[in-house]
Amino acid sequence: MKIAFVGKGGSGKTTLSSLFVRHLAACGAPVVAVDADINQHLGAALGLNEEEAAALPAMGAHLPLIKEYLRGTNPRITSADTMIKTTPPGEGSRLLRVREDNPVYDACARSVELDGGAVRLMVTGPFTDADLGVACYHSKTGAVELFLNHLVDGPGEYVVVDMTAGSDSFASGMFTRFDITFLVAEPTRKGVSVYRQYKEYARDFDVTLKVVGNKVRDQDDLDFLRAEAGDDLLVAVGHSDWVRSMEKGRPPRFGLLEESGRHALSLLHSAADATYERRDRERYTRQMVHFHLKNARSWGNERTGADLAAQVDPGFVLGERVTASA
Ligand SMILES: Nc1ncnc2c1ncn2[C@@H]1O[C@H](COP(=O)(O)OP(=O)(O)OP(=O)(O)O)[C@@H](O)[C@H]1O
Ligand SMILES: [Mg+2]
Repeated sequence: MKIAFVGKGGSGKTTLSSLFVRHLAACGAPVVAVDADINQHLGAALGLNEEEAAALPAMGAHLPLIKEYLRGTNPRITSADTMIKTTPPGEGSRLLRVREDNPVYDACARSVELDGGAVRLMVTGPFTDADLGVACYHSKTGAVELFLNHLVDGPGEYVVVDMTAGSDSFASGMFTRFDITFLVAEPTRKGVSVYRQYKEYARDFDVTLKVVGNKVRDQDDLDFLRAEAGDDLLVAVGHSDWVRSMEKGRPPRFGLLEESGRHALSLLHSAADATYERRDRERYTRQMVHFHLKNARSWGNERTGADLAAQVDPGFVLGERVTASA
């Protein structure tokens, strides 16, 4: 299951994605956690100290390796240099699985021990001022997009992405790569305006979007979110002393998280699992092709000097293979 946490800056994306990752690990589920947020804090939220977080390999720095590996023997992709972030897999491409070992994980993932088990953590790497210009920012999150587009994940396997909600993810198509998107919103006008914008983009692409209220203090806060988000509001989370202790560098055992927080996390978990039967592999593949052709036309063909439409394998559908060891 591919799951994104998006929202306004400071809304609690990193906090809630890290809690969700801890919850999944405590359930014994295999998890790949991905930090694709402009502010790279997921490692710290998963308990890494500054030194450990700084030592994480950046996916953005391993793009050539990622492309070379994923390209495999796909004859439509003549070189890694002509592979852009939206280049879809086809016959001969190498696909990735949540639970296997592969050169992409070797280069980009690190194991993080949590209560209940270890998860894999991958990070795009810190964004510099220059990255925030559209093209380069794309190249960092592009590694994540390639990862998602080549991933065959089954039920009970999770990829959780902490992500910036912004025009970048809309242009690249990244926002369509998830089984479910949790939009974290504080009960403020700014918080819900990001929701509205996302909903608007999501409408044409069958994106499953659910609002998770955060820092909700009272009934008035809850009523506000309900009035703005209606049935899209899945659950609301209040202030958490557990989170506050963690921020102080004194993380309590995960089992000590407040009951309301644990309840919210299990709702997120079942909402994510419930999307599985609505998966449409043809549509998923069609959308990656749609965004690839769009990016090819707008900058990719010119940048690579190749006709990137020729990379599309018309007969290919990204499919999942559930391993028997589940
Ligand atoms: N439910 C909560 N209880 C207590 N503190 C919280 C809660 N949610 C978020 N916070 C705190 O609010 C701050 C912002 O949260 P967080 O870093 O998760 O937001 P973000 O959306 O990832 O922000 P950014 O856009 O900077 O990446 C953090 O200090 C976090 O600890
Ligand atoms: Mg964050």
